[in-house]
Amino acid sequence: MDLTVQLAPGNKKGLKLANPVMTASGTFGYGTEYEHLFDIQSLGAIVCKGTTLEPREGNPQPRIIETVGGMLNSIGLQNIGVDTLIKEKAPVWSKWKVPVIVNIAGRTIGDYALVAKKLDGVAGVAALEVNISCPNVEAGGAEFGIRTDSAAKVIDVVKNATSLPVIVKLTPNTGEIVELARAVVSAGADALCLINTLKGMAIDIKSHRPLPGNGYGGLSGPAIKPVALYMVYEVAKAVSVPIIGCGGITTANDAIEFVMAGATAVQVGTAGFMNPHAPVDVMDGISSYLQKENIQDIHKIIGIARR
Ligand SMILES: Cc1cc2nc3c(=O)[nH]c(=O)nc-3n(C[C@H](O)[C@H](O)[C@H](O)COP(=O)(O)O)c2cc1C
Repeated sequence: MDLTVQLAPGNKKGLKLANPVMTASGTFGYGTEYEHLFDIQSLGAIVCKGTTLEPREGNPQPRIIETVGGMLNSIGLQNIGVDTLIKEKAPVWSKWKVPVIVNIAGRTIGDYALVAKKLDGVAGVAALEVNISCPNVEAGGAEFGIRTDSAAKVIDVVKNATSLPVIVKLTPNTGEIVELARAVVSAGADALCLINTLKGMAIDIKSHRPLPGNGYGGLSGPAIKPVALYMVYEVAKAVSVPIIGCGGITTANDAIEFVMAGATAVQVGTAGFMNPHAPVDVMDGISSYLQKENIQDIHKIIGIARR
C-alpha cells in the first residue's frame, strides 16, 4: 500500500512524507519530548513549536482552559528563539528519519524574513510552516493572516529568503479564507495548512475576569473539526497546491474525512494531550481503512468527496 505523499511538488527540494500524518505546531514540542513514548520516526513529519527571532516567555497564566469538546490556549508563542533552535535542536533532527518542519512567527514582516533566512540550509530542517495568525505590530496588532495584502507580503518575503519548501498556515479568523488561500498561493506558497485556532474566551464568574489570562485564547480540539473540514473543502476547490488538514482530528475517521475533502496530509494537535499516541493511532487507522476498502494508494481518495 502506498501512503507516501509529496507536499511541495513545485519546490526543487520537495517535501516527501512516508505517510500523511504529522503533528501540529505547539502540541508536540520539538519532538524530542515524545521520543520515549513511541517511535516518533514512524510519523509522516513533525512540526515544531512556533519559532521567533528572539526567545519569548509567553503570556500570563492561566494559559489553558478546558472547554466542551476542546480547549482555549494563549501560550503566546513561548519559545527558545531561532538561534538556540539552530544550535541545539536542528543537530538532533539532522540524525532523524522523520522530516522536521519549523513553524515560524513574527511581529513584523522583517522578523519573518530574518527567521526564514537563518533557517535556510540548516541541516535537520526540512521545510518552513509560516504562522500568519500573529499580530502585526506595524499595523496596530491586526493579524497578518486576516488580510490578503499583508498575508501575501509575508509569504513573498519568506519565499525570497529561503529555498526550503514553504507551507502557509491559514487562520480561520477571517471571512475570506478562500481569497486568502489564493493570495498566498500567488505569493509562492508551496502548500497550505488549515486551520489554526479559532478566537474565543471564557469568563471566571468568581473573579469576573476573562480567561485565559491574556483575555482571550485560541479554540482547538474536536469542537472545531466541522469548521476546519468545511474550510479545507472550500479551499481545495480553489487552489492546486497540496493542503494539510488540521483542526480537531482525533481519530483515523476524522483524518480520512479531511483527505476526502481534499487534504493531502493531516496534522494531529490537541488530541495528543489526551492520548500522546494519537498521531500513530490515526496513522494505523488510515492504513487499516485503506486495506479494508482495498485501496492501494491514498491518492485515490484525496478530494473524493468533491468529485
Ligand atoms: C497549546 C497549543 C499551542 C499552539 N501553538 C501553535 C504555534 O506555535 N504555531 C502554530 O502555528 N499553531 C499553534 N497551535 C495551533 C495548532 O497547531 C493547530 O492548528 C490547532 O490547535 C488546531 O488543531 P487541533 O484541534 O488538532 O489542536 C497551537 C495549539 C495549541 C493547542
